[in-house]
Amino acid sequence: MKRIAVLTSGGDAPGMNAAVVSVARSAALHDVRLIGVIRGYNGIIRQDEKLMRAFFAGAKKVIGDNEEDLDMLAALKKAVSGSMGGAFPDFRPLLNKYQGQFCLANDFDDFLRKYPEFMGDFVSLDLDTVLDIADRPGTHLRTARCEAFLNPVVRLAGVLNLTAIGVEGLVVIGGDGSFNGATRLCELGMPCVAIPGTIDNDLAYTEMTLGYDTAVNVCVQAVRQIRATSRSHDRPHVVEVMGRACGDIALRTAVATGAEIVIVPEVPWSVEEVAKKLQKEIAGGNYRATVIVAEGAYESMAPFDVYGFLMERGKQCYPGETISAHRLASILKRLCYDKDKQWVEVRSTVLGYTQRGESPSAYDAAFAFEAGNRAVELLRKNEENVVIGVKEGRVFSMPIFQALKLQDKRKDFFNRRLYNLVNIL
Ligand code: F6P
Repeated sequence: MKRIAVLTSGGDAPGMNAAVVSVARSAALHDVRLIGVIRGYNGIIRQDEKLMRAFFAGAKKVIGDNEEDLDMLAALKKAVSGSMGGAFPDFRPLLNKYQGQFCLANDFDDFLRKYPEFMGDFVSLDLDTVLDIADRPGTHLRTARCEAFLNPVVRLAGVLNLTAIGVEGLVVIGGDGSFNGATRLCELGMPCVAIPGTIDNDLAYTEMTLGYDTAVNVCVQAVRQIRATSRSHDRPHVVEVMGRACGDIALRTAVATGAEIVIVPEVPWSVEEVAKKLQKEIAGGNYRATVIVAEGAYESMAPFDVYGFLMERGKQCYPGETISAHRLASILKRLCYDKDKQWVEVRSTVLGYTQRGESPSAYDAAFAFEAGNRAVELLRKNEENVVIGVKEGRVFSMPIFQALKLQDKRKDFFNRRLYNLVNIL
């Protein structure tokens, strides 16, 4: 194996850079050249006529007079031009047989000189360039979601671009959408290994995703600061954290900060019930309770007429306004009373993107180190279509399709016991 590539995709997560560095170090150990793909899958899908012409001319020469392979090459050309109706034949045997030989440039820098259009798509990642990015937040390689990748012709172009550069394996760092993309590329003949990179921890097959621990630490720090002011003013506070479909950040933050109430997408809830809990705290003398709500939890909320409720109580509100952390605080204020029967001032904070912008915690940096190394080792052993995760505290790997299958049961993996404990204690 001479050349591999790495990309980051989906929402950026702390530790992505550290994982790239680990991939670079592990590749360098075996004299494997590492190429970085810019902006996730967007970086591989350029449809470039000049490159394709050179690719097919070169591949034809390599194949020589093997009729069967030439037929397959012709089919490949038809498929990538978009003129093949219906499903593609399986191109893997052809691409595997000539792995490395369809490469258009022995030297990657030469390739970029010849095809400068690709300069914004690929970069060389030698150790010297990447070592310093390990502890930086964000992703050095940039990231993006890639709608175009849903089109199989576009994906095939991606595989051929990588093949033309001599890439023999791809490390994908991202969430479940990115895993889907990796599987599709494997089906077309580009071996992929995936690393779970998302702060949400919303992947059922693994105990931890890259970035989750750091995001929780950001939230814990913020909630501690918020609780200091809540305590000073004897005011409850609603804190919204990220987690589109997963309440793990919210739950762990609540556990680690002693927050009194946690609301997550996995468990149905109602505003009235939360108000009742908060009122109980107030009645017991705790005027400074913290409510941690995951951003996706509004989906599992029982219907509540936000506009009607607030307008009736003199709060200016826009028709059709839905619930948010700020509105939840406004509503709780009007549902909870102090001992003098006065509304209780409830404040709110949305932590938002701050959760992504921190340098990786020790846990995430260490996981990135192991995961990056494992990814390279798997590719070197010709293991593909697999994803790396953590089980009982140890790094392991499993087929991507199995990991994705577990997503249907993701809610069953939510720690209800801990959730109940937070709300009961
Ligand atoms: O990384 C996951 C996540 O942070 C979600 O919790 C959030 O809903 C989403 O990404 C927002 O990302 P963006 O606005 O970048 O699409």
